[in-house]
Parts: sequence; structure tokens; C-alpha cells
Amino acid sequence: MSQYTITPMTEHATGAEIRGLDLSVPVDDTTRKQLNADFARYHVLVFRDQQLSTSQFAVAGEIFGPLFSQQHKDSREPGHPEVFEIRNVETAPGKYYINGATYHTDHSNHPCPPKATALHTVSLPSYGGDTQFVNMHLAYDALPDAVKQRIEGLKVVHAFESRYTPRKMRTLSPESRKTLPPPALHPFVRVHPESGRRFLYLNPVRMDAIIGMEDSAARSLFEELLMHATQKRFEYRHKWVMGDMVIWDNRSVMHQANGDYDMKEVRHLYRLMIQDDPKVWASEGAKTVAAMAA
Ligand SMILES: [Fe+2]
Repeated sequence: MSQYTITPMTEHATGAEIRGLDLSVPVDDTTRKQLNADFARYHVLVFRDQQLSTSQFAVAGEIFGPLFSQQHKDSREPGHPEVFEIRNVETAPGKYYINGATYHTDHSNHPCPPKATALHTVSLPSYGGDTQFVNMHLAYDALPDAVKQRIEGLKVVHAFESRYTPRKMRTLSPESRKTLPPPALHPFVRVHPESGRRFLYLNPVRMDAIIGMEDSAARSLFEELLMHATQKRFEYRHKWVMGDMVIWDNRSVMHQANGDYDMKEVRHLYRLMIQDDPKVWASEGAKTVAAMAA
């Protein structure tokens, strides 16, 4: 097994820093198992001092499972369809699109969303651009019992773009639209397949309705849960350093980017996502609105 050091980044075990590993070469099975155990424990792993090509980044991602296909087909790295480019893009004079600039979890409109997402630095601005994470196990545990009972068993419709999204999603290309699945159904309360711990599963950019609930009541419940889940006491805030590869669990944390840097500077990262086990998601019942109606 490769020797490395691991240091928790918060007192509530959200985020841990790993030093002493070179991910440009494949890791052995024992190291892989240990890293997956660390991932289940800390939810966000920060690998320092990496310098990975897109191929090496893809191999490093595969330590945690098979790679997930990207939703936007037009932002893929040539030759590496699972590796996506995150960049501050000027969409109109003086206007910039920032990927992920409000709290969310990735691709929850899919029936089996990716279990994890990883980013690796290519170029960073001289200040700002942190990524924030909130621990959804802690958020669930801290809910009043009455709220836990109220949301238990509720199913939420996750669309590509919610009617209530706090930010506009980037428009899908015709090629991307062809492969977009129908809206998915997910419970508010899920059980983590590795730890057995309960967590809140929220995504304000995609949650569009609750089965059996009026829209106005659903919307206020979304807002109440989001306000609760994004408290600082559940947060790990990552300040990027060149050479970082960060991977997070899309089930147990939500994340958000910050567009608070000089847009004349380039913030460029590679992104990839890891597939989850469809059996885990299937065990939670019908996964699309269409399947529920059938
Ligand atoms: Fe994201």
C-alpha cells in the first residue's frame, strides 16, 4: 500500500487533505480500498500537489468507480468524453457564466445521478473562486423531529431546470438534449449505501415539485430545507491551490462555486463524475415521473 497522510479539514469530518500520493501513476488495490473508506468517512477528499493530464485525471477518478457521461456534450475534452472543462465564459460583453454558482448536487435530474464529482486545477485566479460544501448528514441530523417526520417518504421531482431555480442553467446543445433523461423522482431522505447514515437530498436548481403536494407548499418546504441545510456550521470551504484534485460525494454533500474573482483572470478546471450503483437507486422505488404514472 502507498503511504500517505490524511488530515481532517473541519471538526465535523467534512473534508480531509491527502498528501504524499502521486495520482499520475495507478494505485494498488489496498490503497484504492483505503481511499474509498476515507471518502465514505470525510465526503470531500483534497489531494494536494497533483499534476495530471486528462488521461491521468480519468484514471485517478476511476479509483472511486466507473466514469459518468457528461450532460453537456459540447464542453468535453477532445479524446476524453468523460472529462469536462469548467471555465469562466463571457457570454455577452461583460457577462459571465459561472458553472455551479448556487448550492446544488450534480445531475440529480438523472434516475441514477453520479455518486461523486472531481475537479483538478489547470489555471486559477489570483484570489477568490472557492468551492463550498455542506454536509447533508449533519443537516438531516439537526432537523427537528417534526420536520423529519413530515418529509419522510416524500418524493421530489428533479427536472433539468426547476421553475424555482435561483440561477439559469446553461442551454443544452441539440446533441446534449437528445440524451437528456425525463425528470427523475428522488426522496428527500436517503440512506447512504456505504455508511447507512441518513441524509437530506436537495437540489434547488432541479427540485420542481413534490408528489401529492400543492406547488406553493412544495416551494416553501424547498426554501425551508435549503435555508436549514446551508448553515455555516455544516460547511467546509475549499480554497483552491494549484495542483489540487478534489473529489466529493454528491449524495452526502451539496456544493457551490463562487464567481467572486476578477473575470479577466482565467479559472479553469477539469471535471469528471463517477457513476453510482443503479441497484442502490432502484431500491428507492420508481425513479422517473413517467414510471410512476405507468
Ligand atoms: Fe456542480
